Amino acid sequence: MNQDQLKQMVGEAARDEVLKLAPGQVLGVGTGSTANCFIDALAPHKDHFAGTVSSSNATTERLLKHGFKVLNPNDVTGLPAYVDGADEIDPAGHMIKGGGGALTREKIIASMAKQFICICDSSKQVPVLGNFALPVEIIPLAQGVVTRELEKLGGKVSLRLVKGAQEPFVTDNSGWILDVAGLKIADPKSMESQINQIAGVITVGLFAKEKANILLVSNAAGVARIIL
Ligand code: 5RP
Repeated sequence: MNQDQLKQMVGEAARDEVLKLAPGQVLGVGTGSTANCFIDALAPHKDHFAGTVSSSNATTERLLKHGFKVLNPNDVTGLPAYVDGADEIDPAGHMIKGGGGALTREKIIASMAKQFICICDSSKQVPVLGNFALPVEIIPLAQGVVTRELEKLGGKVSLRLVKGAQEPFVTDNSGWILDVAGLKIADPKSMESQINQIAGVITVGLFAKEKANILLVSNAAGVARIIL
C-alpha cells in the first residue's frame, strides 16, 4: 500500500468520524494532501453540515469546487471539530504543522474547535517532535532578528523559498516562513510559548496548546482511532 492510499484510507475514516456529529453544524477543515483526501471523501455528504470554515486559500478553493459552503470565521462562534493533517505527532498529540505553509490559519481554526481530529499515516508518528524542521511564520522585515533568536535555541534556520525558485514562499497572510531544523522538542508547550514571544513571529507551527484530541492513523493494517 503506498502513501497516497494510506492518506485516502484515513480521509475516509475521518469522513465517517465527522458524520457521527449532529447535523447542521459548521466544520473546521485543514490543509494539505491528507486533508484534501478528507474533503474529497466528505463531498457527497456536504449537506450534513451547515457550512465549513477553511484554513487556507487552497482548501477554500477545493471546498467551493465541491459545493461546500465556506463561512468567514468571524461569523462563526464555535466548531464541534477541526480535521487536519500533521507533519509530526507525538504520543501526547502535540504536533508540528505548517509543512504546507498554512499554520497560522490552521491554529486559529483549531482554537475555535471543541476537538482537533488529526489524520495522518503512521510515518508521521514520532516519540519526540523535531525531526521535521519546525515552521515559523514571520513578518518579513523581522527575518534577521527572528533568525538570530531561533539560532539561540539551537536550531539551524532557513528561509523557505518557492519550490524551484529563489524568491521567498509567501503565505496567505503575506508572511514568510523560517524552517528550523535540528530541534529536539522535549517540552512542546514551553517551546511554543517561548517562540511565540519573539517579536516578529506570527505563529510557530508547534501545536501543543491546540493539540490533537483524536488521532486517526493509517497503516497497511487499517486505521486506528486513538483518543489523546
Ligand atoms: C499544512 C499542514 C499540513 O497539515 C501538514 O503539512 C501535513 O500535510 P500532508 O497531509 O500533505 O502530509 O500543516 O500547513
